[in-house]
Amino acid sequence: MQPDAKIMAGLKPGCICKGIKLIRLLEAIEQGADSFEKVAGKTGIGDGSCNGERCSAKVAALLKENKKTAKKLSTKSKMAQHKNDNNSQQEK
Ligand code: FES
Repeated sequence: MQPDAKIMAGLKPGCICKGIKLIRLLEAIEQGADSFEKVAGKTGIGDGSCNGERCSAKVAALLKENKKTAKKLSTKSKMAQHKNDNNSQQEK
């Protein structure tokens, strides 16, 4: 996460009824939480006054975005590996 994005996520709400910042949700996802239940278990969201109605949509969007980012990084990594392999073969 970019430093500016991290600062903003520290200011934005993740759960307004319990005062949990967005950064806590993002950190939980970065640490491997891949479902609403897991994010809720790590952060405490979902059992506030909204009973998960507000925050479940937010977490679903964050998880979806995280999957897209992971897929992009995986593709870039594979492309870089392929390029390195090609360069190694040309040097021989
Ligand atoms: S926004 Fe607080 S529990 Fe859902």
